[in-house]
Amino acid sequence: MSGRRVRLGVLVSGSGSNLQALLDACAREDFPAEVACVVSNVPTAYALERARAAGVATVVVDHKAHASKAEFEAAILDALRSAGVEWVCLAGFMRLLSADFLGRFAGRVLNIHPSLLPSFPGLHAQRQALERGVKVTGCTVHFVDAGTDTGPIIGQAAVPVLPDDDEKSLGARILAEEHRLYPLAVRLAVTGQVSSDGTRTRVSAVPTTSELSLRSPGAEK
Ligand code: GAR
Repeated sequence: MSGRRVRLGVLVSGSGSNLQALLDACAREDFPAEVACVVSNVPTAYALERARAAGVATVVVDHKAHASKAEFEAAILDALRSAGVEWVCLAGFMRLLSADFLGRFAGRVLNIHPSLLPSFPGLHAQRQALERGVKVTGCTVHFVDAGTDTGPIIGQAAVPVLPDDDEKSLGARILAEEHRLYPLAVRLAVTGQVSSDGTRTRVSAVPTTSELSLRSPGAEK
């Protein structure tokens, strides 16, 4: 890629497999972004190891070490600004960000969530899907607003829920799709191929067809 790459800040709390998917995408020459900085609110998060292994700067901003949410967010903002971050990707970041924080990166904060939103927002999305008995679930990448997993949806990927699934097996099937979807959505967002009216988005790069459908149980012959 000859053009300038958009600088991403990735916020994490855990294993960081989605961070890894973004790091791997950024390692490709034609990807329009680079990870400039990884911020974790959990000092022991494995995501930090992944970032270091990729040679990316890491910052720990432990929410427990800050007296208020405002101070916690100010420290994150500081880290992102110092790294020249332009877009923020939440990748398993398990704290809610305030409207004030989001306003500093207006329209440039993305999140991935392990359900087909608006179904099953919040914690334990895979467990919620199993408990509700849905036959298809998946993952969603969306712009972040001040609600819990409520912002305009950029893209989704669906997987079947199989009869013997538990949270682990279903979570792994969803995660494989997350790793494909997040880099794709980041590419579309940072290159300006997604527009949003605040509720819905339009992706200019995608051809439409009326022939497509996903079915569970399997399609009849
Ligand atoms: C992922 O499944 C992500 O979608 C989910 O946390 C997991 C993080 O895994 N995020 C949320 O539930 C946010 N509401 P990772 O650390 O291996 O990327």
